[in-house]
Amino acid sequence: MPGIKGPSDYSQEPPRHPCLQINSKATSFAPPRSALGSSYVTPVDLFYKRNHGPIPVVDDIERYCVDITGLIQTPKKLCMRDVRMLPKYNVTAILQCAGNRRTAMSKTRKVRGVGWDVSAIGNAVWRGAKLADVLALVGIPKLTSSTQSGGKHVEFVSIDKCKEENGGPYKASIPLSQATNPEADVLLAYEMNGEPLNRDHGYPLRVIVPGVIGARSVKWLDSINIIAEECQGFFMQKDYKMFPPSVDWDNINWSTRRPQMDFPVQSVICSLEDVQSIKPGKITISGYAASGGGRGIERVDVSIDGGKTWLEASRFQKTGIPYISDHESSDKWAWVLFEITVDIPYSTEIIAKAVDSAANVQPENVRDIWNLRGILNTSWHRVQVRMGHSNM
Ligand code: MTE
Repeated sequence: MPGIKGPSDYSQEPPRHPCLQINSKATSFAPPRSALGSSYVTPVDLFYKRNHGPIPVVDDIERYCVDITGLIQTPKKLCMRDVRMLPKYNVTAILQCAGNRRTAMSKTRKVRGVGWDVSAIGNAVWRGAKLADVLALVGIPKLTSSTQSGGKHVEFVSIDKCKEENGGPYKASIPLSQATNPEADVLLAYEMNGEPLNRDHGYPLRVIVPGVIGARSVKWLDSINIIAEECQGFFMQKDYKMFPPSVDWDNINWSTRRPQMDFPVQSVICSLEDVQSIKPGKITISGYAASGGGRGIERVDVSIDGGKTWLEASRFQKTGIPYISDHESSDKWAWVLFEITVDIPYSTEIIAKAVDSAANVQPENVRDIWNLRGILNTSWHRVQVRMGHSNM
């Protein structure tokens, strides 16, 4: 694609905030948990970053365009000017890597994948055009589940070079019915928190699929293809699938499971490390809660006695506006922050668990949801506190 190229080495990576924790291959970056949960909108430089290859380089933004092709009557080249001319929308939405909290899953039994703690998630204000409006430009009406030529899925193809794709680009797809539904708020985004996207987060153009695991929000968009079957790429078919605990690397059959889309209800305590030393007295326990598919957070329960009894935490998104799950004033794709102040007289285990608006609740134990790729660890979030010298 003119105007943008995907390098094959890491010599042109952008600078990153020094507090980000970096995995050994320098392809994933996450802030300390204390940096999350303190602000509703996560600052761009503290937002986790997950790149499966070197970051693409834009050398001429005027020549950059996205090919829209496949099972449609009129293929089109979409340049940035075309995208910017469409109605602009701000969507506040989290991105969460399906592997968030993978490290804790590995404590039960080793899993493969990037060792994320609890910070492979962030909440941002994304600005761009709705994919439903973009697809209307190539003759696909709103709320369409199949084109006349049999297109049922929308594939997003990037320009980066990923070793999992044998040097080919990252790609993923979503159903056409979701892509053409204006209420699903799928964006072609060019801004994050009021600034043009930076290189790490997909400059110049990326997809944001709210309520769905981060893997489907393709960065550095090169083409959009309308296809009959879902994308056959590695990250759809051989990764990011949820297997039962009985499946291991010697008996796995990837074709038996659907690619993961929505994420389940999640909550995490960000104000305490595991293990944390504290002094007897009052402490504030706070963190984030989120669910997939646009479901709100109905409740966050906190236990200070290892799960014997529970207290309800307060929930909020915007200062001064009480959060009501699934209310029109709430950001349905965003996270909800929670907080509770309690007296802790002894060493104990503190737990958070959230309930979403469909009454889904986090599972108690990580072993019950163990899976070989270590995805979707949404088990009760636990931290140990020890009486002693406070490091708070
Ligand atoms: N898009 C491209 N082109 N290449 C990638 O490696 N990683 C995906 C997704 N989109 C990826 C991508 C994954 S696994 C996640 S979790 C999110 O981007 C991370 O987005 P972020 O780095 O903006 O936080």
